[in-house]
Amino acid sequence: MSTESSPVTVIGLGPMGRAMAATLIAAGHPVTLWNRTPSRARDLVAAGATLAPTPSAAVAASELTILSLTDYPAMYDILEPAVADPAYRDLLTGKVVVNLSSDTPEASRAAAAWAAQRGASFLTGGAMVPAPMIGTPHAYVFYSGPGEAFTGCEAVLRLIGEPRYLGTDPGLAQLFYQAYLDVFLSTLSGLLHATALITSAGVPATEFLPGALALVSGVPDMIGGAEQLARQVETGEHPGDLSTALMMGATAEHILRSSEQAGIDLELPRAVKSHYDRAIAAGHGSSDWTALYEVLKAYG
Ligand SMILES: NC(=O)c1ccc[n+]([C@@H]2O[C@H](COP(=O)([O-])OP(=O)(O)OC[C@H]3O[C@@H](n4cnc5c(N)ncnc54)[C@H](OP(=O)(O)O)[C@@H]3O)[C@@H](O)[C@H]2O)c1
Repeated sequence: MSTESSPVTVIGLGPMGRAMAATLIAAGHPVTLWNRTPSRARDLVAAGATLAPTPSAAVAASELTILSLTDYPAMYDILEPAVADPAYRDLLTGKVVVNLSSDTPEASRAAAAWAAQRGASFLTGGAMVPAPMIGTPHAYVFYSGPGEAFTGCEAVLRLIGEPRYLGTDPGLAQLFYQAYLDVFLSTLSGLLHATALITSAGVPATEFLPGALALVSGVPDMIGGAEQLARQVETGEHPGDLSTALMMGATAEHILRSSEQAGIDLELPRAVKSHYDRAIAAGHGSSDWTALYEVLKAYG
């Protein structure tokens, strides 16, 4: 696939799809768009994109179609009728479909098989930054799927963000996306729960959040870095010479009781405390807190 000015189709114009399309237009690619709500294409059309009348016309316009949708069912809602459009026979044959939508690894694998049955190469993608950072040096995106398809459109994908190719399993990019978002969403809930704890005492959030965010960025140092954590979970050795599960579990209990006293939501501190309770019950009380991993993983 020529990359300099190759046509690209973008389907799905939420904040992410719009940012991706704008980046591709700015780089000189002819961009064809389709969105269920056509008005979301207005600014992009003004910037030079073409709004296709149907999903099938949009897919037919380019060798590469990028999907940016809420989930994978939305892909079928759009592409099933498109491939059945009698005006476009063998619509997907020879095409590359890159789906940058969130869902499960199994949904990505099923979609890759669905696309392959229709003659298309399918790449799963997971964009790891919010829309305003798309196309900036901070952006990176996980991909997996057929290597040839990835190499063929790598230069175009690089415009969106640094591509991190994880191999041929179409589920793997989705797995990495969900694992990173697991860290991110859990952190966001913790941050807002802690803010609610502080503000329940009449203390303004502005007095709390700068320090709380500094704590988040200090976590790698506090836990000894990625290498040490990886070694502990991989070897199953949690020596218990620093922060034990018993000590941390006691704090988890204190957070729960402080939250009760503050009258705020208790689901998150209950869940965290349950991890420590179960690790202690399984005999890991005097091990490092990293022994929670033995409880959290249900396999092996
Ligand atoms: N926003 C972020 O910060 C961010 C960051 C990284 C990754 N992501 C992921 O990127 C994807 C897109 O995010 P977004 O924020 O742009 O999402 P969004 O605002 O929810 O936009 C989703 C797009 O999907 C379309 N859509 C949803 N269901 C549909 C259906 N059944 N049929 C046809 N079209 C359908 C919407 O069409 P309408 O316009 O007609 O509603 C819209 O174009 C999501 O999977 C999200 O998890 C988002």
